[in-house]
Amino acid sequence: MKKILELISQEMQGAFTKAGYDAGLGRVTLSNRPDLCEYQCNGAMAGAKQYKKAPLSIASEVADQLKGSKVFLSVEAVAPGFLNCKVNPAFLKDYLQGMWDSEKFGLEEAKIPQTIILDYGGPNVAKPLHVGHLRSAIIGESVKRISRYMGHKVIGDIHLGDWGLQMGLIITELKERQPELIYFDETYTGDYPANPPFTIGELEEIYPTASGKSKEDAAYKEKAMEATFKLQNGVPGYRALWQHILNVSVADLKKNYANLKVDFDLWKGESDVHDRIPAMVEYMKNGGYAHLSEGALVVDVKEETDTKEIPPCMILKSDGASLYNTTDLATIMERMEEIQPDTMIYIVDKRQDLYFEQVFRCARKTKLVNEDTRLFFLGFGTMNGKDGKPFKTREGGVMRLESLLKEINEEMYKKITENREISEEEARDTASKVALAALKYGDLSNQASKDYIFDLERFTSSEGDTGPYILYTMARIKSILRKYTEQGGDLNAVQLREVSTDSEKSLVMELAKFNTMMEAAFEEIAPHKVCAYIYDLSNAINKFYHETRILDETDEEKKTGWIALLLLCLDILETCVDLLGFESIEKM
Ligand code: ARG
Repeated sequence: MKKILELISQEMQGAFTKAGYDAGLGRVTLSNRPDLCEYQCNGAMAGAKQYKKAPLSIASEVADQLKGSKVFLSVEAVAPGFLNCKVNPAFLKDYLQGMWDSEKFGLEEAKIPQTIILDYGGPNVAKPLHVGHLRSAIIGESVKRISRYMGHKVIGDIHLGDWGLQMGLIITELKERQPELIYFDETYTGDYPANPPFTIGELEEIYPTASGKSKEDAAYKEKAMEATFKLQNGVPGYRALWQHILNVSVADLKKNYANLKVDFDLWKGESDVHDRIPAMVEYMKNGGYAHLSEGALVVDVKEETDTKEIPPCMILKSDGASLYNTTDLATIMERMEEIQPDTMIYIVDKRQDLYFEQVFRCARKTKLVNEDTRLFFLGFGTMNGKDGKPFKTREGGVMRLESLLKEINEEMYKKITENREISEEEARDTASKVALAALKYGDLSNQASKDYIFDLERFTSSEGDTGPYILYTMARIKSILRKYTEQGGDLNAVQLREVSTDSEKSLVMELAKFNTMMEAAFEEIAPHKVCAYIYDLSNAINKFYHETRILDETDEEKKTGWIALLLLCLDILETCVDLLGFESIEKM
């Protein structure tokens, strides 16, 4: 379906043409004086110079052409030359009917579906999942769902950090504590035990301990680097330990992501491309792309037009070890070979933007990707505490994702059970759904690149621009629909009608922005547009609700028309919250 503003502009352009003016002047926008009119066109002002005529007389001539228009109820030429338009209820009704009849509410899917790889999540094995990784998961999941809804083929890859120094650190600390473990006997050639010599709890304590030690003790760090080197070079005991670490950690990650309703198609990690590195290095050398610089192998990626310094992309360190870069480039190579994506989108902390600039330039220069492959970095800002500093626990430590979710859950539970009779089970279930909405909406309603403040009180409030407010509005609609059915109404039989009140008309106009909004949310990789849309829509729904006695209406036609309108609203809201990665509830 065409976008509503396109149809309206088309009508206006036709009138400009008929009145003898350039059609291009007839662009219509939403009114910035909604108290006076719904849409406006400023084309007569723009045309005044070109036609050497007073803008008001151009506007009047155009307005004359629109008498009896099917699209406009009224078009008024007002000084100094604006065209103030009100839209025809019958036209709105037709548009709405089109949305009702179409599977995706008038949205046209992409004509040429792309294959998109979304690189998001990016947790590091054996390090606790903390709020820094939260944003990537939440934004990535929503971008994935939005892109799929648009008809694209999307593959989400978690890209685990499982191959760096942190693995060496853990192995080193384990060796300090349990040197007798069979994994450290380099003469051993048998099988290794099936069960890991640690629990997830221990693992999570081992990493920070080891990391702390390595910062203070150079010899310890040296050992950790050596362990990393041995691991990467395939020492069997180290590989076996690493596999245990990976298994234990991934099981825990899966549980955490499931709680967040985030899921990945691929659970690949940096380690998966290890075996590709030698061939890639050869390729870069033979192609003349890479050269030695102070012993390290690098690819220059600066360009003449650069205004800031872009350092070379390092492929191998002087000791031959690979880096974060190396695995990212080899991953690009693997993806091009195995999946041939049109686009790769990375959803990572914006502090990595220079890094990705280097990696992308290097991938292009060395032709790891095709000329038309799009590489896109969506850098997100930091989630700060109320003090404006990166979010921490009350004690000042790194907040673990699990604890954060728990905290929001408890807060929601408290609110839900306050002054109310509700079963424990229902309260817990509702609390967990609303909590997830609070957290995700709180994050997604901000433009991703911006920092934002995590404010528990505000995020969990059922008033204002929040997740709970949206769920509350949906629950309100559900309750009206339930009552309508209890009165004997049949939801399958209701039909849309022409709007009859102002608040109803405003509601329909909000609703009609759906396809325009979805396209923009996809193209600009901007889930916050979905949030803004459902927030405005919810406000319009609540205003309509307060101004209309829906269930008491005696005119049956009117009443069923309103019920149909609410059904459509609910359907669209359900779709949108699903695209944001949470779900509605039956009762608030
Ligand atoms: N593991 C990384 C980190 O915690 C994020 C990974 C992002 N993705 C990538 N392909 N580099 O910083």
